[in-house]
Amino acid sequence: MAATDLERFSNEEKRNLSLGGHVGFDSLPDQLVSKSVTQGFSFNILCVGETGIGKSTLMNTLFNTTFETEEASHYESAVRLRPRTYDLQESNVHLKLTIVDAVGFGDQINKDESYRPIVEYIDTQFENYLQEELKIRRSLFNYHDTRIHVCLYFITPTGHSLKSLDLVTMKKLDSKVNIIPIIAKADTISKSELHKFKIKIMSELVSNGVQIYQFPTDDEAVAEINSVMNAHLPFAVVGSTEEVKVGNKLVRARQYPWGVVQVENESHCDFVKLREMLIRVNMEDLREQTHTRHYELYRRCKLEEMGFKDTDPDSQPFSLQETYETKRKEFLGELQRKEEEMRQMFVNKVKETEAELKEKERELHEKFEHLKRIHQEERRKVEEKRRELEEEMNAFNRRKVAVETLQSQSLQATSQQPLKKDKDKKNFFSLPSAYSITTGRYVN
Ligand code: GTP
Ligand code: MG
Repeated sequence: MAATDLERFSNEEKRNLSLGGHVGFDSLPDQLVSKSVTQGFSFNILCVGETGIGKSTLMNTLFNTTFETEEASHYESAVRLRPRTYDLQESNVHLKLTIVDAVGFGDQINKDESYRPIVEYIDTQFENYLQEELKIRRSLFNYHDTRIHVCLYFITPTGHSLKSLDLVTMKKLDSKVNIIPIIAKADTISKSELHKFKIKIMSELVSNGVQIYQFPTDDEAVAEINSVMNAHLPFAVVGSTEEVKVGNKLVRARQYPWGVVQVENESHCDFVKLREMLIRVNMEDLREQTHTRHYELYRRCKLEEMGFKDTDPDSQPFSLQETYETKRKEFLGELQRKEEEMRQMFVNKVKETEAELKEKERELHEKFEHLKRIHQEERRKVEEKRRELEEEMNAFNRRKVAVETLQSQSLQATSQQPLKKDKDKKNFFSLPSAYSITTGRYVN
Protein backbone atom coordinates (compact mmCIF):
# COMPACT_ATOMS: atom_id res chain seq x y z
CA MET A 1 0.00 0.00 0.00
CA ALA A 2 1.39 3.44 -0.95
CA ALA A 3 2.11 5.97 1.79
CA THR A 4 -0.72 8.30 0.67
CA ASP A 5 -3.25 5.41 0.75
CA LEU A 6 -2.10 4.56 4.23
CA GLU A 7 -2.54 8.15 5.41
CA ARG A 8 -6.05 8.33 3.91
CA PHE A 9 -6.94 5.01 5.52
CA SER A 10 -5.78 6.06 8.98
CA ASN A 11 -7.37 9.50 8.72
CA GLU A 12 -10.72 8.06 7.64
CA GLU A 13 -13.47 8.87 10.09
CA LYS A 14 -15.07 6.04 12.00
CA ARG A 15 -18.88 6.19 12.04
CA ASN A 16 -21.16 4.81 14.72
CA LEU A 17 -23.87 2.53 13.33
CA SER A 18 -26.74 0.90 15.14
CA LEU A 19 -27.58 -2.74 14.48
CA GLY A 20 -31.03 -3.84 13.31
CA GLY A 21 -31.03 -6.97 15.46
CA HIS A 22 -28.88 -9.35 17.56
CA VAL A 23 -25.71 -10.28 15.69
CA GLY A 24 -23.84 -12.17 18.36
CA PHE A 25 -20.43 -10.58 18.84
CA ASP A 26 -21.45 -9.68 22.39
CA SER A 27 -20.47 -13.27 23.16
CA LEU A 28 -16.82 -12.46 22.44
CA PRO A 29 -15.87 -12.11 26.15
CA ASP A 30 -17.50 -15.48 26.85
CA GLN A 31 -15.60 -17.01 23.94
CA LEU A 32 -12.40 -15.62 25.41
CA VAL A 33 -13.18 -17.01 28.87
CA SER A 34 -14.06 -20.41 27.43
CA LYS A 35 -10.86 -20.49 25.38
CA SER A 36 -8.69 -19.47 28.36
CA VAL A 37 -10.33 -22.04 30.60
CA THR A 38 -9.68 -24.79 28.07
CA GLN A 39 -6.11 -23.65 27.66
CA GLY A 40 -5.47 -23.44 31.42
CA PHE A 41 -3.35 -20.89 33.26
CA SER A 42 0.12 -20.76 34.62
CA PHE A 43 1.28 -18.82 37.63
CA ASN A 44 4.81 -18.68 38.96
CA ILE A 45 5.74 -17.56 42.45
CA LEU A 46 9.26 -16.87 43.62
CA CYS A 47 9.83 -17.13 47.39
CA VAL A 48 12.82 -15.21 48.68
CA GLY A 49 13.59 -15.28 52.38
CA GLU A 50 15.99 -16.68 54.94
CA THR A 51 16.13 -20.42 55.54
CA GLY A 52 13.34 -21.49 57.91
CA ILE A 53 11.43 -18.19 57.68
CA GLY A 54 8.21 -20.07 56.83
CA LYS A 55 8.12 -20.03 53.01
CA SER A 56 6.89 -23.58 52.50
CA THR A 57 4.35 -23.34 55.32
CA LEU A 58 2.91 -20.17 53.81
CA MET A 59 2.62 -21.75 50.34
CA ASN A 60 0.83 -24.76 51.82
CA THR A 61 -1.50 -22.44 53.73
CA LEU A 62 -2.17 -20.22 50.70
CA PHE A 63 -3.15 -23.05 48.38
CA ASN A 64 -4.66 -25.19 51.12
CA THR A 65 -2.64 -28.22 50.19
CA THR A 66 0.66 -29.87 51.02
CA PHE A 67 3.36 -29.29 48.46
CA GLU A 68 6.39 -31.51 48.61
CA THR A 69 9.05 -29.73 50.61
CA GLU A 70 12.43 -30.52 51.97
CA GLU A 71 14.10 -28.46 54.63
CA ALA A 72 17.12 -26.52 53.42
CA SER A 73 20.35 -26.80 55.37
CA HIS A 74 22.08 -23.68 56.62
CA TYR A 75 25.32 -24.70 54.90
CA GLU A 76 24.69 -23.95 51.23
CA SER A 77 27.81 -22.35 49.74
CA ALA A 78 25.68 -20.13 47.48
CA VAL A 79 22.05 -19.30 46.81
CA ARG A 80 20.41 -21.75 44.41
CA LEU A 81 16.97 -21.63 42.81
CA ARG A 82 14.73 -24.68 43.11
CA PRO A 83 11.59 -24.63 40.94
CA ARG A 84 8.76 -27.13 41.43
CA THR A 85 5.68 -27.27 39.21
CA TYR A 86 2.28 -28.58 40.24
CA ASP A 87 -1.00 -29.04 38.37
CA LEU A 88 -3.89 -27.73 40.44
CA GLN A 89 -7.59 -27.69 39.66
CA GLU A 90 -10.38 -25.64 41.20
CA SER A 91 -13.87 -26.10 39.67
CA ASN A 92 -13.06 -26.48 35.97
CA VAL A 93 -10.03 -24.17 36.02
CA HIS A 94 -6.59 -25.73 35.62
CA LEU A 95 -3.61 -23.93 37.08
CA LYS A 96 -0.02 -24.88 36.42
CA LEU A 97 1.63 -23.48 39.52
CA THR A 98 5.39 -23.17 39.82
CA ILE A 99 6.90 -22.35 43.18
CA VAL A 100 10.55 -21.34 43.05
CA ASP A 101 12.51 -21.36 46.30
CA ALA A 102 15.69 -19.34 46.75
CA VAL A 103 17.45 -22.05 48.75
CA GLY A 104 20.24 -20.95 51.09
CA PHE A 105 19.34 -17.26 50.94
CA GLY A 106 21.01 -15.36 53.80
CA ASP A 107 23.17 -18.30 54.92
CA GLN A 108 26.53 -17.25 53.45
CA ILE A 109 29.08 -15.21 55.40
CA ASN A 110 29.64 -12.99 52.38
CA LYS A 111 26.19 -12.05 51.09
CA ASP A 112 27.35 -9.56 48.44
CA GLU A 113 26.43 -11.87 45.55
CA SER A 114 23.27 -13.41 47.07
CA TYR A 115 20.97 -11.55 44.69
CA ARG A 116 22.84 -12.65 41.55
CA PRO A 117 21.48 -16.23 41.12
CA ILE A 118 17.95 -14.88 41.64
CA VAL A 119 18.39 -12.17 38.98
CA GLU A 120 19.97 -14.70 36.63
CA TYR A 121 17.09 -17.13 37.11
CA ILE A 122 14.50 -14.45 36.31
CA ASP A 123 16.46 -13.32 33.23
CA THR A 124 16.82 -16.90 32.00
CA GLN A 125 13.03 -17.34 32.04
CA PHE A 126 12.65 -14.07 30.06
CA GLU A 127 15.34 -15.20 27.64
CA ASN A 128 13.61 -18.56 27.07
CA TYR A 129 10.38 -16.76 26.28
CA LEU A 130 12.14 -14.31 23.94
CA GLN A 131 13.84 -17.16 22.09
CA GLU A 132 10.47 -18.83 21.61
CA GLU A 133 8.99 -15.54 20.37
CA LEU A 134 11.81 -15.04 17.86
CA LYS A 135 11.53 -18.52 16.39
CA ILE A 136 10.14 -18.81 12.86
CA ARG A 137 7.91 -21.68 13.97
CA ARG A 138 6.89 -20.58 17.43
CA SER A 139 4.38 -22.28 19.66
CA LEU A 140 3.52 -19.69 22.27
CA PHE A 141 0.02 -21.15 22.46
CA ASN A 142 1.13 -24.23 24.38
CA TYR A 143 4.45 -22.82 25.63
CA HIS A 144 5.04 -23.45 29.34
CA ASP A 145 5.59 -19.90 30.50
CA THR A 146 8.06 -19.98 33.40
CA ARG A 147 8.45 -16.22 33.79
CA ILE A 148 8.12 -15.21 37.44
CA HIS A 149 4.83 -13.40 38.04
CA VAL A 150 5.39 -12.45 41.64
CA CYS A 151 8.18 -12.45 44.17
CA LEU A 152 7.05 -12.88 47.76
CA TYR A 153 9.84 -11.30 49.76
CA PHE A 154 9.83 -12.69 53.32
CA ILE A 155 11.03 -10.12 55.85
CA THR A 156 12.33 -11.42 59.19
CA PRO A 157 10.15 -10.06 62.03
CA THR A 158 12.95 -8.27 63.88
CA GLY A 159 10.85 -5.20 64.71
CA HIS A 160 13.91 -3.08 63.92
CA SER A 161 14.42 -2.31 60.27
CA LEU A 162 15.22 -3.99 56.97
CA LYS A 163 18.60 -5.64 56.64
CA SER A 164 20.94 -4.35 53.95
CA LEU A 165 20.63 -7.74 52.24
CA ASP A 166 16.86 -7.16 51.93
CA LEU A 167 17.31 -3.68 50.46
CA VAL A 168 20.03 -4.71 48.01
CA THR A 169 18.12 -7.79 46.84
CA MET A 170 14.80 -5.98 46.41
CA LYS A 171 16.53 -3.12 44.57
CA LYS A 172 18.14 -5.57 42.14
CA LEU A 173 14.82 -7.33 41.54
CA ASP A 174 12.36 -4.46 41.35
CA SER A 175 12.73 -3.83 37.61
CA LYS A 176 12.42 -7.51 36.81
CA VAL A 177 9.57 -8.82 38.90
CA ASN A 178 6.49 -7.75 40.89
CA ILE A 179 7.66 -7.70 44.51
CA ILE A 180 5.18 -8.15 47.36
CA PRO A 181 7.00 -7.77 50.67
CA ILE A 182 5.58 -9.73 53.60
CA ILE A 183 6.53 -9.85 57.24
CA ALA A 184 6.85 -13.55 58.03
CA LYS A 185 6.00 -15.22 61.35
CA ALA A 186 4.03 -12.15 62.36
CA ASP A 187 2.81 -13.98 65.48
CA THR A 188 6.25 -13.41 67.00
CA ILE A 189 5.91 -9.64 67.11
CA SER A 190 3.49 -7.56 69.21
CA LYS A 191 0.71 -5.49 67.63
CA SER A 192 2.20 -2.07 68.43
CA GLU A 193 5.70 -3.16 67.35
CA LEU A 194 4.27 -4.56 64.12
CA HIS A 195 2.58 -1.25 63.33
CA LYS A 196 5.85 0.67 63.80
CA PHE A 197 7.80 -2.00 61.91
CA LYS A 198 5.48 -1.71 58.89
CA ILE A 199 5.89 2.09 58.77
CA LYS A 200 9.67 1.75 59.10
CA ILE A 201 9.87 -0.81 56.30
CA MET A 202 7.81 1.31 53.91
CA SER A 203 9.83 4.44 54.60
CA GLU A 204 13.09 2.52 54.08
CA LEU A 205 11.84 1.11 50.79
CA VAL A 206 10.84 4.59 49.61
CA SER A 207 14.09 6.25 50.70
CA ASN A 208 16.12 3.56 48.96
CA GLY A 209 14.06 3.84 45.77
CA VAL A 210 12.79 0.26 45.86
CA GLN A 211 9.67 -0.13 43.70
CA ILE A 212 7.31 -2.72 45.12
CA TYR A 213 4.18 -3.98 43.36
CA GLN A 214 1.16 -1.72 43.81
CA PHE A 215 -2.27 -3.29 43.47
CA PRO A 216 -3.85 -1.59 40.42
CA THR A 217 -6.44 1.07 41.00
CA ASP A 218 -7.39 1.83 37.39
CA ASP A 219 -10.07 -0.84 37.15
CA GLU A 220 -13.21 0.47 38.85
CA ALA A 221 -14.31 -2.95 40.02
CA VAL A 222 -11.23 -3.42 42.21
CA ALA A 223 -9.97 0.15 42.63
CA GLU A 224 -11.37 0.60 46.12
CA ILE A 225 -10.25 -2.65 47.66
CA ASN A 226 -6.85 -2.38 46.00
CA SER A 227 -6.17 1.14 47.22
CA VAL A 228 -7.13 0.10 50.78
CA MET A 229 -4.82 -2.90 50.55
CA ASN A 230 -1.95 -0.84 49.20
CA ALA A 231 -2.04 1.02 52.50
CA HIS A 232 -1.65 -2.26 54.41
CA LEU A 233 1.62 -3.24 52.78
CA PRO A 234 3.77 -5.04 53.81
CA PHE A 235 1.37 -7.78 54.86
CA ALA A 236 2.18 -9.43 58.16
CA VAL A 237 1.41 -13.12 57.77
CA VAL A 238 1.23 -16.28 59.79
CA GLY A 239 1.36 -19.70 58.21
CA SER A 240 0.22 -23.02 59.58
CA THR A 241 -0.85 -26.37 58.28
CA GLU A 242 -2.16 -27.37 61.68
CA GLU A 243 -5.91 -27.33 62.35
CA VAL A 244 -7.19 -26.26 65.76
CA LYS A 245 -10.74 -26.40 67.09
CA VAL A 246 -12.02 -22.88 67.80
CA GLY A 247 -15.59 -22.89 69.06
CA ASN A 248 -17.10 -25.70 67.07
CA LYS A 249 -15.04 -25.06 63.93
CA LEU A 250 -11.70 -26.46 62.81
CA VAL A 251 -9.46 -23.62 61.65
CA ARG A 252 -5.85 -23.28 60.55
CA ALA A 253 -3.97 -21.86 63.47
CA ARG A 254 -0.86 -21.91 65.62
CA GLN A 255 -1.51 -23.00 69.13
CA TYR A 256 0.50 -21.59 72.04
CA PRO A 257 0.24 -22.14 75.80
CA TRP A 258 -1.30 -18.69 76.12
CA GLY A 259 -3.68 -18.85 73.17
CA VAL A 260 -4.35 -19.57 69.52
CA VAL A 261 -3.23 -17.50 66.50
CA GLN A 262 -5.76 -18.01 63.76
CA VAL A 263 -4.31 -17.74 60.30
CA GLU A 264 -7.54 -16.58 58.68
CA ASN A 265 -8.56 -14.17 61.40
CA GLU A 266 -7.95 -10.65 60.10
CA SER A 267 -7.47 -9.25 63.57
CA HIS A 268 -4.62 -11.77 64.10
CA CYS A 269 -2.72 -11.30 60.86
CA ASP A 270 -2.90 -10.20 57.19
CA PHE A 271 -2.95 -13.70 55.70
CA VAL A 272 -6.46 -13.29 54.25
CA LYS A 273 -5.51 -9.92 52.76
CA LEU A 274 -2.51 -11.52 51.06
CA ARG A 275 -4.57 -14.41 49.68
CA GLU A 276 -7.27 -12.01 48.44
CA MET A 277 -4.80 -9.73 46.74
CA LEU A 278 -2.46 -12.36 45.36
CA ILE A 279 -4.91 -15.00 44.19
CA ARG A 280 -8.49 -13.82 44.11
CA VAL A 281 -8.18 -10.22 42.86
CA ASN A 282 -4.87 -9.54 41.20
CA MET A 283 -3.50 -12.79 39.83
CA GLU A 284 -4.27 -11.74 36.24
CA ASP A 285 -2.80 -8.26 36.79
CA LEU A 286 0.40 -9.82 38.11
CA ARG A 287 0.59 -11.99 34.99
CA GLU A 288 -0.13 -9.00 32.77
CA GLN A 289 2.39 -6.72 34.52
CA THR A 290 5.03 -9.42 34.11
CA HIS A 291 4.40 -9.48 30.37
CA THR A 292 3.79 -5.82 29.61
CA ARG A 293 6.24 -4.22 32.03
CA HIS A 294 9.05 -6.50 33.13
CA TYR A 295 9.31 -8.76 30.10
CA GLU A 296 8.88 -5.79 27.75
CA LEU A 297 11.80 -4.02 29.46
CA TYR A 298 13.97 -7.13 29.20
CA ARG A 299 13.01 -7.62 25.54
CA ARG A 300 13.69 -3.97 24.67
CA CYS A 301 17.13 -3.96 26.32
CA LYS A 302 18.03 -7.29 24.74
CA LEU A 303 16.98 -6.27 21.22
CA GLU A 304 18.74 -2.90 21.57
CA GLU A 305 21.84 -4.76 22.73
CA MET A 306 21.57 -6.83 19.56
CA GLY A 307 21.45 -3.61 17.51
CA PHE A 308 17.72 -3.43 16.72
CA LYS A 309 15.94 -0.10 16.99
CA ASP A 310 12.56 1.36 16.08
CA THR A 311 13.80 4.75 14.83
CA ASP A 312 16.83 5.97 12.91
CA PRO A 313 19.09 8.81 14.21
CA ASP A 314 16.60 11.36 12.78
CA SER A 315 13.77 9.78 14.81
CA GLN A 316 12.19 8.37 11.66
CA PRO A 317 10.58 4.91 11.84
CA PHE A 318 13.13 2.25 11.13
CA SER A 319 11.84 -1.13 9.98
CA LEU A 320 13.23 -4.52 10.94
CA GLN A 321 14.22 -4.98 7.29
CA GLU A 322 16.29 -1.75 7.37
CA THR A 323 17.88 -2.76 10.66
CA TYR A 324 18.75 -6.10 9.13
CA GLU A 325 20.24 -4.45 6.01
CA THR A 326 22.26 -1.98 8.11
CA LYS A 327 23.49 -4.77 10.36
CA ARG A 328 24.39 -6.88 7.34
CA LYS A 329 26.35 -3.99 5.79
CA GLU A 330 28.08 -3.32 9.10
CA PHE A 331 28.91 -7.00 9.40
CA LEU A 332 30.26 -7.26 5.86
CA GLY A 333 32.30 -4.06 6.34
CA GLU A 334 33.73 -5.45 9.55
CA LEU A 335 34.49 -8.74 7.82
CA GLN A 336 36.32 -6.93 5.00
CA ARG A 337 38.26 -4.82 7.49
CA LYS A 338 39.29 -7.95 9.39
CA GLU A 339 40.28 -9.70 6.16
CA GLU A 340 42.44 -6.71 5.09
CA GLU A 341 43.98 -6.57 8.55
CA MET A 342 44.86 -10.25 8.38
CA ARG A 343 46.27 -9.94 4.87
CA GLN A 344 48.44 -7.00 5.99
CA MET A 345 49.57 -8.99 9.00
CA PHE A 346 50.51 -11.90 6.74
CA VAL A 347 52.49 -9.64 4.37
CA ASN A 348 54.34 -8.07 7.32
CA LYS A 349 55.12 -11.48 8.71
CA VAL A 350 56.50 -12.66 5.36
CA LYS A 351 58.63 -9.51 5.11
CA GLU A 352 59.95 -10.01 8.63
CA THR A 353 60.84 -13.64 7.92
CA GLU A 354 62.52 -12.64 4.65
CA ALA A 355 64.65 -10.03 6.44
CA GLU A 356 65.58 -12.54 9.11
CA LEU A 357 66.62 -15.09 6.48
CA LYS A 358 68.71 -12.46 4.64
CA GLU A 359 70.45 -11.52 7.86
CA LYS A 360 71.21 -15.19 8.55
CA GLU A 361 72.57 -15.61 5.01
CA ARG A 362 74.83 -12.57 5.46
CA GLU A 363 76.15 -13.92 8.76
CA LEU A 364 76.86 -17.32 7.16
CA HIS A 365 78.65 -15.68 4.29
CA GLU A 366 80.83 -13.68 6.67
CA LYS A 367 81.62 -16.83 8.61
CA PHE A 368 82.53 -18.60 5.40
CA GLU A 369 84.85 -15.75 4.33
CA HIS A 370 86.53 -15.77 7.74
CA LEU A 371 87.11 -19.54 7.60
CA LYS A 372 88.41 -19.19 4.07
CA ARG A 373 90.95 -16.58 5.23
CA ILE A 374 92.09 -18.82 8.12
CA HIS A 375 92.44 -21.74 5.73
CA GLN A 376 94.54 -19.70 3.29
CA GLU A 377 96.78 -18.53 6.13
CA GLU A 378 97.26 -22.10 7.33
CA ARG A 379 98.02 -23.21 3.81
CA ARG A 380 100.60 -20.44 3.42
CA LYS A 381 102.27 -21.49 6.68
CA VAL A 382 102.40 -25.16 5.67
CA GLU A 383 103.89 -24.18 2.32
CA GLU A 384 106.57 -22.14 4.06
CA LYS A 385 107.35 -24.99 6.39
CA ARG A 386 107.62 -27.36 3.43
CA ARG A 387 110.03 -24.98 1.69
CA GLU A 388 112.20 -24.73 4.81
CA LEU A 389 112.28 -28.50 5.14
CA GLU A 390 113.26 -28.89 1.50
CA GLU A 391 116.09 -26.45 1.98
CA GLU A 392 117.15 -28.35 5.06
CA MET A 393 117.03 -31.61 3.12
CA ASN A 394 119.12 -30.14 0.32
CA ALA A 395 121.64 -28.88 2.81
CA PHE A 396 121.72 -32.27 4.42
CA ASN A 397 122.17 -34.02 1.11
CA ARG A 398 125.00 -31.67 0.23
CA ARG A 399 126.58 -32.38 3.57
CA LYS A 400 126.08 -36.09 3.07
CA VAL A 401 127.78 -36.03 -0.35
CA ALA A 402 130.65 -34.08 1.14
CA VAL A 403 131.00 -36.53 4.00
CA GLU A 404 130.79 -39.50 1.67
CA THR A 405 133.51 -38.00 -0.54
CA LEU A 406 135.63 -37.40 2.51
CA GLN A 407 134.93 -40.91 3.74
CA SER A 408 135.96 -42.52 0.48
CA GLN A 409 139.14 -40.41 0.37
CA SER A 410 140.08 -41.37 3.89
CA LEU A 411 139.28 -45.01 3.18
CA GLN A 412 141.65 -44.96 0.28
CA ALA A 413 144.34 -43.29 2.39
CA THR A 414 144.09 -45.72 5.27
CA SER A 415 143.47 -48.94 3.34
CA GLN A 416 146.65 -50.46 4.66
CA GLN A 417 146.08 -49.79 8.37
CA PRO A 418 144.96 -52.57 10.85
CA LEU A 419 141.27 -53.58 11.10
CA LYS A 420 140.76 -52.43 14.75
CA LYS A 421 141.42 -48.87 13.82
CA ASP A 422 138.86 -49.15 10.99
CA LYS A 423 136.11 -49.84 13.45
CA ASP A 424 136.91 -46.74 15.50
CA LYS A 425 136.98 -44.61 12.45
CA LYS A 426 133.64 -45.97 11.30
CA ASN A 427 132.05 -44.95 14.59
CA PHE A 428 133.52 -41.55 14.27
CA PHE A 429 132.15 -40.94 10.77
CA SER A 430 128.80 -42.79 11.13
CA LEU A 431 125.90 -40.58 9.94
CA PRO A 432 122.11 -41.00 9.92
CA SER A 433 120.68 -42.38 6.75
CA ALA A 434 117.34 -40.53 6.75
CA TYR A 435 115.48 -37.47 8.11
CA SER A 436 111.93 -37.92 9.54
CA ILE A 437 109.53 -35.05 8.80
CA THR A 438 107.01 -36.17 11.47
CA THR A 439 109.53 -36.33 14.36
CA GLY A 440 111.89 -33.71 12.93
CA ARG A 441 114.92 -36.03 13.67
CA TYR A 442 117.54 -37.99 11.69
CA VAL A 443 117.19 -41.78 11.87
CA ASN A 444 119.69 -44.61 11.12
P1 GTP B 1 13.40 -23.73 54.20
O1 GTP B 1 12.65 -24.19 52.99
O2 GTP B 1 14.12 -24.82 54.89
O3 GTP B 1 14.24 -22.54 53.95
O4 GTP B 1 12.34 -23.25 55.29
P2 GTP B 1 11.01 -22.49 55.01
O5 GTP B 1 11.27 -21.05 54.83
O6 GTP B 1 10.23 -23.18 53.95
O7 GTP B 1 10.27 -22.63 56.42
P3 GTP B 1 9.21 -23.72 56.81
O8 GTP B 1 7.89 -23.41 56.21
O9 GTP B 1 9.76 -25.05 56.61
O10 GTP B 1 9.07 -23.38 58.37
C1 GTP B 1 10.13 -23.48 59.26
C2 GTP B 1 9.61 -23.49 60.68
O11 GTP B 1 8.92 -22.31 60.96
C3 GTP B 1 8.60 -24.63 60.93
O12 GTP B 1 8.82 -25.14 62.22
C4 GTP B 1 7.26 -23.95 60.86
O13 GTP B 1 6.29 -24.56 61.67
C5 GTP B 1 7.60 -22.57 61.42
N1 GTP B 1 6.70 -21.56 60.92
C6 GTP B 1 6.22 -21.47 59.68
N2 GTP B 1 5.41 -20.40 59.59
C7 GTP B 1 5.38 -19.83 60.81
C8 GTP B 1 4.71 -18.69 61.36
O14 GTP B 1 3.97 -17.98 60.69
N3 GTP B 1 4.92 -18.41 62.66
C9 GTP B 1 5.72 -19.16 63.44
N4 GTP B 1 5.86 -18.82 64.71
N5 GTP B 1 6.36 -20.21 62.97
C10 GTP B 1 6.21 -20.56 61.66
MG1 MG C 1 10.84 -24.61 52.55
